[in-house]
Amino acid sequence: MFRPGHLIAAIALVAIALVAFAAPTQAGRKQPTGPIIVDTDIGVDDALAITWLLGQPNVEIVGFTTVVGNTSGDHATRNLLTLVAAAGEQYPVTVGAADPLELSRTRTGALIHGPDGLWFAQRPADIAGLPTDAPAALAAAAREHPGLTIVALGPLTNVARAIAAYPADMAGVRLVALGGAQRGGNRTPVAEFNIYADPDALAAVLASDMQVELVTLDAFSQVTVNPEQLIRRLGRRGDAVGALLAQSFGAYVRAQQMQGEAGRAAIPDAAAAVYALYPDLGGAQSALVKVVVDDGLARGQTVIAADLANRIPMIADDAELSALADQAFTPGSDMNAALGAILLREPDNAQVILDLDEGAVLRLFERDLLR
Ligand code: BDR
Ligand code: CA
Repeated sequence: MFRPGHLIAAIALVAIALVAFAAPTQAGRKQPTGPIIVDTDIGVDDALAITWLLGQPNVEIVGFTTVVGNTSGDHATRNLLTLVAAAGEQYPVTVGAADPLELSRTRTGALIHGPDGLWFAQRPADIAGLPTDAPAALAAAAREHPGLTIVALGPLTNVARAIAAYPADMAGVRLVALGGAQRGGNRTPVAEFNIYADPDALAAVLASDMQVELVTLDAFSQVTVNPEQLIRRLGRRGDAVGALLAQSFGAYVRAQQMQGEAGRAAIPDAAAAVYALYPDLGGAQSALVKVVVDDGLARGQTVIAADLANRIPMIADDAELSALADQAFTPGSDMNAALGAILLREPDNAQVILDLDEGAVLRLFERDLLR
């Protein structure tokens, strides 16, 4: 005979089984990380993130790919070339998607990042001769650089296309993606911007064999800076990159303030970049993640279950759970087996980062960006 306590016991038993099946966590990994490639829709916080990454002596950056998101694909590419040139560096750059996989392109990033994505800090750059097959570039990087991490700072369109075209190369590759939210959104009340921009791309990534680590809005919104202080300190670098970042970040903060966001400012992509190299600073948890791909009110919403009680209704619909409830109090019913079978139908598909150590992330960010 089923009693209410049995449900808890059943869930606990299945928890043990799931832990045994779960993918290994990233805990314990510190710098130096292996090689990385950065996929970016470079806007203002992407520029902060990339500048920080360029300053990491122990990290091999094997290239960049660009993607539509905060701004058009062409603007993103010109912004990347502008930043890399200002830093006096040279890297392979490959142009990527100009549109999301299925839905229409959002152009609302301009309200925060300006019409060119960098609030007019963009410089003329010749993008005509660049290679244009970002999925091929991602797959080639995975083939040629064992242990590669893809750091995805924008919508996941290029990554999804790489998975479709080169599944064997992408299988097992570590993907640190800035995107998704467990509680609330920033593009809509329920959706984070990067996933809103191309929800089908996240769906493809979640269905793939990549090792996905999602740095969510819940986590990156915990890392905030005093904007006036950061603008002053960027200016004090006294170099071209500092001037570019001070100009664009200043306008980005003013745009957010005009939209009612006073006080400290989040630096989403920079927080994700620091996490990618220092995963111990984020509490990565194995989770089942689903995403709303319909172009309606919930477009881009991520539903994230990192605990067992929430996984079950994400897998079994109400008809199935109601049928189980009907049988629960009859002699011989085996809830353990029934719940376990449900959970095993859909294994976890990502590690989610819901918390970041703000103090430690900011110390690394400021140490290596502001000098
Ligand atoms: C993400 O949205 C974009 O505006 C930022 O560049 C970042 O990648 C944060 O939700
Ligand atoms: Ca971005």
